[in-house]
Amino acid sequence: MRVLITGGAGFIGSNIAKQLERSYPNAKVYVLDDFSSGHFKNLIGFRGEVITGNISDPSLWEWLAQNYQFDVVFHKAAITDTTIMDQALMMKTNADSFRHLLKCAVKWKAKVIYASSAGVYGNVEPPMREEGPQEPENVYGFSKLIMDRIALNFLEEHKDIKLIGFRYFNVYGEGESYKGKTASMVYQLYKKIASGEKARLFKWGEQRRDFVYIKDVIKANMLALEKDVSGIFNIATGESRSFNEIVDILSIELNTKPEVEYFDCPYDFYQQHTQADISKAREVLGYTPDFSLEDGIRDYIKVLRA
Ligand SMILES: NC(=O)c1ccc[n+]([C@@H]2O[C@H](COP(=O)([O-])OP(=O)(O)OC[C@H]3O[C@@H](n4cnc5c(N)ncnc54)[C@H](O)[C@@H]3O)[C@@H](O)[C@H]2O)c1
Repeated sequence: MRVLITGGAGFIGSNIAKQLERSYPNAKVYVLDDFSSGHFKNLIGFRGEVITGNISDPSLWEWLAQNYQFDVVFHKAAITDTTIMDQALMMKTNADSFRHLLKCAVKWKAKVIYASSAGVYGNVEPPMREEGPQEPENVYGFSKLIMDRIALNFLEEHKDIKLIGFRYFNVYGEGESYKGKTASMVYQLYKKIASGEKARLFKWGEQRRDFVYIKDVIKANMLALEKDVSGIFNIATGESRSFNEIVDILSIELNTKPEVEYFDCPYDFYQQHTQADISKAREVLGYTPDFSLEDGIRDYIKVLRA
């Protein structure tokens, strides 16, 4: 099996690369990344090749089509900073490059497992369903919504190719530290609380998210590899928890009483409450999350401490 992972130096991509090498020792795994938000240190221990390139560059895809043959593509490369407002850049990088990739997938007859996002839903009434309303609040969410449209149109025309899109909710876990300010709230709050600083939250910390642990996200990607299905799926836990609750869990786990500073949210496009309906992923992929927020944080703290 020859596998290409775009965004493989990033948080989710590097975890997929390492899991593939553990589960499929004979697979040839290639990472493609421009290292804009990923980091080579995420790939320490990875035994495959690394191709450095920008997914927005059509000549990169022509070169890959001519010189390589892949059976599977995990497509995770994207601008992942949701506060970037350059609409053309966001659309070119996230949505337009997906078209180039799909052209190659037809030539390779490769299965494609790509990253969409809960950002497509915006502030619609939870629980969010794949076939329910989608009203992105920012151009990041819009770019992912257009990726999903590209995918659905592609599937109508290419019944022989398997294509799976994952709308990840808020992922946290090992490998996210290089994302800096876009790393998860679990990571940001751990850093503050573990170093004895004040926890800082937007007023009044009651914003709710469906937080999903990286090990469950990897599990979903491995199921997508094994199953002979296509479609778009929410990947989450199905439960929504508040930022205040993360502080409470960290307080217990770190045995401390942190001070919390609340400040005004500077964004007018902020999602207030996300919660996924994960019944489609459960029924079609056999996906069930193993980690509650408490279990995920407990597991993650071991890594963060080390
Ligand atoms: N982490 C989350 O909570 C979350 C939630 C929803 C969706 N997603 C999606 O999952 C995917 C992976 O996200 P992540 O959390 O691992 O983020 P990340 O920023 O760690 O990973 C993205 C990777 O893509 C690379 N990249 C960016 N632009 C590129 C370009 N033009 N050419 C080549 N490589 C490029 C970056 O260098 C990085 O390694 C993304 O598509 C993201 O939109 C993530």
